[in-house]
Amino acid sequence: MRLAILGSSFNPIHLGHLFLADAVLSELHYDRVILVPAYRSPFKLEAPGMESGARDRLEMAAAAIAGDPRLTVDDCEIRREGVSYTADTIADIIRRYAPDEKPGFIIGDDLAADFPQWNRSDDILAMADIIIARRLHSGVLTIPYPCTQITNSVMEISSGMVRDKITANAAWRYLVPAAARSIIESRGLYGLNPRPAESPAGNLIFRVEEAAREGLSLERFLHSRNTALMAWDMCRRLSAYKLNPELGYLAGMAHDLGKQLSEKEIIKLTKNDGRRISRLEKEKPSLLHGRASAVLLRERFNVHNEDVLEAAALHTLGGKDMGPLAKMVYIADKMEVSREKIDPAVRKLAYTENDLDKIFVTALEQTASWLRAKKLKLSQESLALLEKMRRSSG
Ligand SMILES: [Fe+2]
Ligand SMILES: [Fe+2]
Repeated sequence: MRLAILGSSFNPIHLGHLFLADAVLSELHYDRVILVPAYRSPFKLEAPGMESGARDRLEMAAAAIAGDPRLTVDDCEIRREGVSYTADTIADIIRRYAPDEKPGFIIGDDLAADFPQWNRSDDILAMADIIIARRLHSGVLTIPYPCTQITNSVMEISSGMVRDKITANAAWRYLVPAAARSIIESRGLYGLNPRPAESPAGNLIFRVEEAAREGLSLERFLHSRNTALMAWDMCRRLSAYKLNPELGYLAGMAHDLGKQLSEKEIIKLTKNDGRRISRLEKEKPSLLHGRASAVLLRERFNVHNEDVLEAAALHTLGGKDMGPLAKMVYIADKMEVSREKIDPAVRKLAYTENDLDKIFVTALEQTASWLRAKKLKLSQESLALLEKMRRSSG
């Protein structure tokens, strides 16, 4: 196995690091690049707080490379503590990984000129092949020691730049891998306001969205995302209900998770929700897909928020006493932007009206008229609900 080593503070890891590792792999045909987060970089002895953030930095790097077997993270410098000297790290890696040949050691061209002054640079040269990667310059450099220069394009990203942007509340999110971003957001690193503690979001939403993308057709996934966004928007707009918009997003994203399961699987899942299965549902098990989605949310994703589970379960047929989140997801499922056959006036109402029940009645009526066109009728539940809503709105 041919190995290359990429040392850095990874404070935080960003797309430039991953791009660089990928460039070394493809240009020089190494089998694997080992990312080694420094405990205390000899170049940044002045930087405060490096050591205390070591675990976060390591975790972000590990999360960022998930699923790519060509990359790995080694924590030897963090375990060793003290100043992280490259010669120690290379010797340690050779001892533990037993590579077939000298490992590569990647240095950015910004540090190349000073390399001869590094601690034990002769030892490093004896143990590793030096790879100079482009950070600042795009031409070939004159380097006074043996090395290979790769021709990667220069990416203008640095960890310091990412940190400054986070602190200044400027755009930074797409400069770092999504998994690292989620750690920064949930822990409030670099002065970012962390997500509120009661928030179910972050990784959970990420995982549910991934499951929807993998389990559903592309069209249905996009429908789910539009439903999630509309539910999010409604939670924010109809602020009197004090619903966390992330719950709306989660329920919208999950509502059709059960949709593409077989009838057998849908029935099997639904038996776990403790409610009876009606005659209509028995005849047409696909009507149970919302309830199946709710069971999936509870059993597979450990979601126990009753509003979210209700919203997924009742989005198909509605139910007697639907809470506001369930109504919003019901509405969003019927009215989201990729639904073609919506009267513009109805659409406008759905996107701007501040009376939730008014939108909800309209959504029910809209569904009834679609069903009429197909010579079908609203379910008993939805009809009863519509009658009740009409009565109460006078
Ligand atoms: Fe559905
Ligand atoms: Fe749907």
